Amino acid sequence: MSGGCSTLLSQGLLGSSRQCMAQEASSVVADSITIIDNRTGNQLEIPIERGGIAASEWQKLLPGVWFYDPGLTATAVCDSSITYLDGDNGILRYRGYPIEQLAEHSTYLEVAYLLLHGELPTAAQFDTWRHEVTYHTYIHENVRKRFLEGFHYDAHPMGMLVSAVAALSTFYLDAKQIFDPESRRKQIIRLIAKMPTLAAAAHRFSVGMPFVYPDNSLDFCSNFLSMMWKVAEPRFDANPVLARALDILFILHADHEQNCSTTAMRVVGSSHADPYSACAAACAALYGPRHGGANEAVIRMLTEIGSVERVPDFIRSVKEGTGGRLQGFGHRVYKSYDPRAKIIKRTADEVFAITGKNPLLDIALKLEEIALSDEYFTSRKLYPNVDFYSGLIYQAMGFPLEMFPVLFAIPRTAGWLAHWQELLDQDSKIVRPRQLYSGPEARDYVPIDRR
Ligand SMILES: CC(C)(COP(=O)(O)OP(=O)(O)OC[C@H]1O[C@@H](n2cnc3c(N)ncnc32)[C@H](O)[C@@H]1OP(=O)(O)O)[C@@H](O)C(=O)NCCC(=O)NCCS
Repeated sequence: MSGGCSTLLSQGLLGSSRQCMAQEASSVVADSITIIDNRTGNQLEIPIERGGIAASEWQKLLPGVWFYDPGLTATAVCDSSITYLDGDNGILRYRGYPIEQLAEHSTYLEVAYLLLHGELPTAAQFDTWRHEVTYHTYIHENVRKRFLEGFHYDAHPMGMLVSAVAALSTFYLDAKQIFDPESRRKQIIRLIAKMPTLAAAAHRFSVGMPFVYPDNSLDFCSNFLSMMWKVAEPRFDANPVLARALDILFILHADHEQNCSTTAMRVVGSSHADPYSACAAACAALYGPRHGGANEAVIRMLTEIGSVERVPDFIRSVKEGTGGRLQGFGHRVYKSYDPRAKIIKRTADEVFAITGKNPLLDIALKLEEIALSDEYFTSRKLYPNVDFYSGLIYQAMGFPLEMFPVLFAIPRTAGWLAHWQELLDQDSKIVRPRQLYSGPEARDYVPIDRR
């Protein structure tokens, strides 16, 4: 089976329940399925490889018959070696490394290297990588003065980020050379390095504070916190526990295979747009409340519940369908506890030891306790996801709610770029799906005075 956009999983339609085990890739045909077209009696044996059926095989039997799969819930749109996710068993690995080990021992910058290069760096490789990312943190003065400062005073920082990332493509014209390895490398470093600068600049502008230049003597997260919070002191030294907590959150958010924003990145990248334009599309996808906005929704929900005593009533209203969904619960892929949520819960304790406990924590813990023992939630396999606790941490660290999707975009840039690079290396086809047409039959134009 060839990789790329032509590979379609058809588990739902064809009744196979196999998992796509990308990390156990093998070219051996493991299994097959026989399909009979009852209209003609034609039959075809189609190989199933790594849980997938190639669309090219399917089309041999039924040319012009399309899978109807609007949310791409049963369709593998690519063949990727970056992230492995087993939602039934709560497993997440980057390039084969368990997320738990990376969160405990690694740093975001090292994880970004791993995602982009496929291997952990040697000490020398990491030094070069860190140096390059550190020295590309500055943004062109015109990005700030002419562009960012042109926004309305109460602009949403995520809206500013989406636009600023797209605007970078007009500052780095060499970015169009997407098949030149040196140009590609340079844009990747620029994007990873400049995201925190743009993010902090968007926040400072939206609250009327002056821009803070990057401090290249600081590590990635401490530098970001300095650009966020520095006032008049000559140097801002972030609390190391908070900087490390942010680093862990960045590791957990660095990639999550074919989520909505990564798919947007791959779709736009497949047209051979430059990486800034593709990244802006990915940021835009992340802006939506169903994706990057879920942890904000959790905070709003907890605030609305208001006290531990009101939790049972709220759970009842969710079950009766009058209270909306339990935000931060459930996941399209994870059908057991989200492994990232477990790590985040530990990180939350460390952060609260410094910042003081977020008063909403007790409500969250009660919600979790009741939901995990309630048949409504357990029978639907609804468990806390990464967003259930991440918002509480960000809020305790002083980030306003509007910054939550921005905080997600900073680390996810590494994942987006890893997928962008991979699809270019695979020489993937342009993404161009089919549709089922349900509009009117052909009809003649009626002049306006006769309608
Ligand atoms: C993440 C999410 C969109 C996944 O949705 P999905 O895989 O399409 O699942 P469905 O919408 O098909 O839901 C399946 C069932 O569980 C219920 N359900 C799903 N998530 C629920 C939640 N958070 N609270 C209450 N019920 C929920 C649905 O009502 C549905 O019940 P039904 O079978 O009786 O109709 C969904 O779980 C959700 O909205 N969660 C809250 C938002 C959130 O935390 N998003 C962040 C994801 S990282």
